[in-house]
Amino acid sequence: MQGVARLFITTAILFALAGMALGLHMAISGDHGQHPTHAHIMLAGWVSLALMGLFYHHFPALNLSVMARVQFWVTALSAVLMCVSLIFLYGGNPAVEPGAAIGSIGFLLGMLLFAYNVLGTIWRT
Ligand code: HEM
Ligand code: HEM
Repeated sequence: MQGVARLFITTAILFALAGMALGLHMAISGDHGQHPTHAHIMLAGWVSLALMGLFYHHFPALNLSVMARVQFWVTALSAVLMCVSLIFLYGGNPAVEPGAAIGSIGFLLGMLLFAYNVLGTIWRT
């Protein structure tokens, strides 16, 4: 595997490990206050990024393109910002809300770029 597919899958695995560690922490402590954070780390971080990586792996030309690289960095950095902000937000720090907002909007932008890359490819091939 190469290109952004490898970057996506590697990043997704890091999210999975972090999210499951948080899940275990919640389960052991009995405090489920971070469950929205855990849900987004697992589903936005692990599942969504892994799906994107698998998609790119199937389209080698797109996988090595500049647009795919741009889409990776926008999506991955936004996911990190969103999830880290959520940890603080659900930990009782409303001051980080702008971080969550910027991360969320960035994640949406990443999905729009993914739509542009994917739809441009699957409707042409
Ligand atoms: C080490 C493995 C995991 C542990 C210990 C764990 C633990 C937890 C705990 C304690 C909750 C809160 C439950 C509640 O308060 O209702 C939760 C919720 C959740 N988990 Fe996990 N989890 C794990 C893996 C996963 C995985 C692999 C996924 C998805 C790929 C996932 C997705 C979710 C989602 C979406 C919720 C929120 C569900 C809801 O809205 O009620 N978790 N998890
Ligand atoms: C633009 C990015 C996103 C924003 C702003 C957002 C926002 C939210 C909000 C405000 C909630 C309610 C949290 C609460 O219960 O207090 C929520 C819940 C949830 N979201 Fe998202 N979300 C985003 C992306 C996603 C994505 C990409 C997924 C899955 C692939 C997802 C899956 C879920 C799930 C499963 C829940 C229920 C978890 C729970 O019970 O807390 N979200 N989201």
